[in-house]
Amino acid sequence: MTIATPLPPSSPEHSASGLDQVIAAETRLSHVDGAAGRLILRGYDLADLAGWRFEEVLALLWADLTPISLDAHSISAALGAARLYAFHLMEPLLPATDALSEVEALRLLLAALPDDSKPPHPVLAVAAVPVFTAAIARRRRGLEPVPPMADLGLATDFLHMLHGQPATQAQIRGLEAYLVTVADHGLNASTFAARVIASTKAGLFSSVLGGLCALKGPLHGGAPGPVLDMLDAIGNDAAIRPWLSAALDRGERLMGFGHRIYRVRDPRADVLKGAVSALGADSARIRFAQAVEAQALALLAERKPERALQTNVEFYTALLLEALGFDRTSFTNVFAAGRMAGWTAHVLEQEMTGRLMRPQSLYTGPWPA
Ligand code: ACO
Repeated sequence: MTIATPLPPSSPEHSASGLDQVIAAETRLSHVDGAAGRLILRGYDLADLAGWRFEEVLALLWADLTPISLDAHSISAALGAARLYAFHLMEPLLPATDALSEVEALRLLLAALPDDSKPPHPVLAVAAVPVFTAAIARRRRGLEPVPPMADLGLATDFLHMLHGQPATQAQIRGLEAYLVTVADHGLNASTFAARVIASTKAGLFSSVLGGLCALKGPLHGGAPGPVLDMLDAIGNDAAIRPWLSAALDRGERLMGFGHRIYRVRDPRADVLKGAVSALGADSARIRFAQAVEAQALALLAERKPERALQTNVEFYTALLLEALGFDRTSFTNVFAAGRMAGWTAHVLEQEMTGRLMRPQSLYTGPWPA
């Protein structure tokens, strides 16, 4: 690992607010080219992964990092067994989540994964999130959790555990596309958090739990629910421009727009837009969302020309997950289900190759007299 920007103490010009341009880890897993709007996962452009199953992407990301047998079939079988393990572990704890938001409930249940658990840790971490997410969502609707079916693929079983009935092929393809699209994304805030914790050798479950805690924020993985809130609040075509203008006048951020790295359109937004259309989602909803997107981009270009703000992954995530029958309060948890692929791979890579992460800070407080 290299730190590209040395930070001599007491040099304000070297203070790296937001850590832009700081290279804090080396990785073979993924690369985000913000200028070109390109996402590469282990040698594949995101577009090349269209039609891949989530298990195949896991095999790609985990290659060379774990002794687990890495063909997609073995991974699928191991995930199925681990889903059953996670379900039984979860059942007595589920009532304790009632007073919590859905992402807080997921945080509680993930925290209960024991470091001495039998299934391999990366497998259990990936398997547990859909089990917990579906059970939490059903409990909010007053429904009992649906036990996993170990022989199904993860996306298929996720929808089955959520709805209590078999999913259609179109729904499965839609969720598969989503999980693959968000599986990994360079050193984003949650992955960085997971790698920092992994660098202390705290263990995989602690590391990915830290990742979830970072993902929870509205500036990162907490945005797609608010995207739907925004569409609902705008309501109709005539209100689009005045509503967006007033929000910007109040200094608010428009959810689903802007990105730290991308200065052109987020390539994931296009993949998910395609997945929404392929699913045959409510066409009036999609058309309205596109009208909001167009007006928002025009206004952001007027108001923040220097920032080149574009649509990000969260905008079409919101429409896709809504069409798949997830409540907006579950969206961050579904994001975590996909991103767990990247978190586990980064944690394994960090544990294998990285040093303890210990950057410096620039002291701006008073000195002793
Ligand atoms: N709406 C309005 N203004 C925006 C937006 C937005 N969505 N995004 C950035 N800006 C403005 C900021 O207000 C700021 O203006 P100022 O310099 O006049 O104060 C300027 O652009 C730069 O803002 P930064 O926070 O420095 O930009 P950064 O690149 O760090 O932020 C972020 C990226 C957090 C994603 C931001 O664009 C945002 O808040 N977007 C809305 C939330 C969102 O969609 N999050 C999901 C991101 S994708 C993901 O994490 C999976």
